[in-house]
Amino acid sequence: MKKYFLLCITCFVICSSNAQNFPNKTYQTNYENIMERTEWWQQARFGMFIHFGAYAVPASGEWYKSNKKMTTEEYQKYVDAFNPYLYDAKEWAKLAKEAGMKYAVLTAKHHDGYCLFDSKLTDYKITTNMPGRDLVREYVDAFRAEGLKVGLYYSVIDWHHEDYPNVGNHPQREDEEYKKLKFDWDNYLKYMHGQIEELVTNYGKIDIMWFDYSFGEYKGEKWKARELIEMVRKNQPDIILNNRLAGDGGSSIFDAEYPLGDFNTPEQQLPEAPLKDEYGNLIPWETCLTLNNSWGYNANDNDWKSAELVVHSLVNCVSKGGNLLLNVGPNAKGLIPEPSVKILKEVGKWMCKNGESIYDCGIAELPKADFGLYTQNDNMLYAHWMYPKVGGINIKGYAEKTEQVIMLFDGSVAPTFTSWWGNSDKNNFFINVKPCAQCAYPLPDEINTVFRLKLKK
Ligand code: GLC
Repeated sequence: MKKYFLLCITCFVICSSNAQNFPNKTYQTNYENIMERTEWWQQARFGMFIHFGAYAVPASGEWYKSNKKMTTEEYQKYVDAFNPYLYDAKEWAKLAKEAGMKYAVLTAKHHDGYCLFDSKLTDYKITTNMPGRDLVREYVDAFRAEGLKVGLYYSVIDWHHEDYPNVGNHPQREDEEYKKLKFDWDNYLKYMHGQIEELVTNYGKIDIMWFDYSFGEYKGEKWKARELIEMVRKNQPDIILNNRLAGDGGSSIFDAEYPLGDFNTPEQQLPEAPLKDEYGNLIPWETCLTLNNSWGYNANDNDWKSAELVVHSLVNCVSKGGNLLLNVGPNAKGLIPEPSVKILKEVGKWMCKNGESIYDCGIAELPKADFGLYTQNDNMLYAHWMYPKVGGINIKGYAEKTEQVIMLFDGSVAPTFTSWWGNSDKNNFFINVKPCAQCAYPLPDEINTVFRLKLKK
């Protein structure tokens, strides 16, 4: 009776947390379409964000022009000097693949307005500096060739276009003379929509469009978001879109009338719990994260995250049903900084052995444990032993349900036991690995040792 009661409670907690609840039919259809569109992406889990542009020249991050309140004329010397002669998208693609990433997102245009593609609508672009080199085309070709899905970041904010007003963090935000200028907003929108149309029509299949970003009244219909999205989807029916055309952190993406995107984008943050809409339905999300503290190349930022922290962050996202988009900021020559390469290769080694606990995985039937986190794919439950601790890990109640436990890094069967001296609780199910006396950590994999529990169906 007691057991039955506990079973019901567990089932209630699990089932009710994933239960779907919709205010009306339109909402439900939007939700289902979004889930279907994002299915491959939710299975992919891990992607590369690439912030690359003329801001690599001053080497102080992509907000340099705004931070220094520079005029376009002052910034021009950096733009003129932007000549990434060692840019080789094939090398970037190989690295992303080696790190275990399944997709990428490249900044086609960032807030400074400079374009990495051969836009017909401006000369403020890479082909002015490097004739014949459309870096977006080289990127999509190279990443597709490695079997990775391709995404493009496009900044709807523009600190260069003459019809974009000095609002928000515009470099001339405090310039009283600039404020007196006339801005033809519709002309800017025409330019912005036109450039996005170029991106979704001239480069083959684009898998993701990553818009950045809305603020204050500059959100939604101010960008003519609905018309824009309709045009994008007409040209790229399967494309998935982030939520940043919507304001208020994008919580309105599932709006019953018309969804302004497909997934949520926590920035530099790992949410406490799976993200849900206001009716309690799970929603797709992706944390974007820098490897140091900067998106664009920053020569003075050496605050690098360890490979361990990156892997832990990825597992953290997956355990809550989210993705991780991990950033690199290539330098002015077009090279991904050495420390980033090193971290990504180390992450790749872990992914190579343990990727099965990431791809296609999501929220597990068990909550967070004191030794680490769980991820799950159907009847494969992955216990991530992330924090050093003495003794075995106890997955209470799982002795009966489990068919086999292996250590994911080498496939060997993991030693299990059900009692230790003084604790013979029937529900015990310990997994143990022999601590190694010489190791700094009593874990076979210092980053994160994964056990795979094959559950009986
Ligand atoms: C912010 C920043 C931007 C960066 C982005 C990444 O919106 O303005 O520089 O590209 O976050 O999420």
